[in-house]
Amino acid sequence: MTRPIKSIVVLTGAGISAESGINTFRASDGLWENHSIDDVATPEGFARNPQLVHHFYNRRRQQLLNPSVQPNPAHMALARLEREFPGNVLLVTQNVDNLHERAGSQNLIHMHGELMKMRCECTQLIFASSIELSFDNLCRCCQEPGNLRPHIVWFGEMPLQMHEITQALESCDLFLSIGTSGNVYPAANFYHSAKSHGAQTVELNLEHTHSDFDEHIYGAASSIVPAYVEGLLRSA
Ligand code: APR
Repeated sequence: MTRPIKSIVVLTGAGISAESGINTFRASDGLWENHSIDDVATPEGFARNPQLVHHFYNRRRQQLLNPSVQPNPAHMALARLEREFPGNVLLVTQNVDNLHERAGSQNLIHMHGELMKMRCECTQLIFASSIELSFDNLCRCCQEPGNLRPHIVWFGEMPLQMHEITQALESCDLFLSIGTSGNVYPAANFYHSAKSHGAQTVELNLEHTHSDFDEHIYGAASSIVPAYVEGLLRSA
């Protein structure tokens, strides 16, 4: 017997932003926008060539700021779920874009960091970053060049706010996974943590991802997510 739904955790991945014009990661032979992941998404890559890494994230930031890139109906539906569901909704995203917050989501964790922020490697202070970053930028705290890095969790680094996420997964009644391939840990294991603590688990994705969810709904996020949220709110 399924228990009443009082608390929901939603995990999103690149698939939810695909229809807003942001490329997913694993569609192109392990390359991310024509770069190897080792070069642009690891601390070692940054140590080897910080200018290349800054240039790469400057381009991603410019792409996000293009007026054609806007939240789509799936982002809007999740913001509506948070506003209208008579219980707790936590949104955990692997995406570094800001489309969830632009759609109105507030109870949101960016577990892989945020494109529109930078961090000082020395003090760990985080700053808004709308500017082009380069190795020569001085950070506002130490006033030294070379200390600023994109506020992005790279491969081999610990995702953010894991304690809070773990607690929410272990106490939620419903876990939704939207637009993620389930290739990257620890996010790929979230459905398992939720399920082993008694939550219902549902995957909404373009295609099957080999994870053992209780329910799978296939299709484009911009149509299946609003429809699913509508049903959830009607039965709440
Ligand atoms: N609607 C729903 N799902 C979609 C859509 C769409 N319009 N378009 C693509 N998808 C699905 C794909 O079928 C795929 O299963 O979204 C998933 C995207 O998978 P990935 O590109 O692997 O992205 P993600 O799972 O978010 O990657 C996780 O890996 O590179 C790192 O840190 C990076 O956060 C990222 C993490």
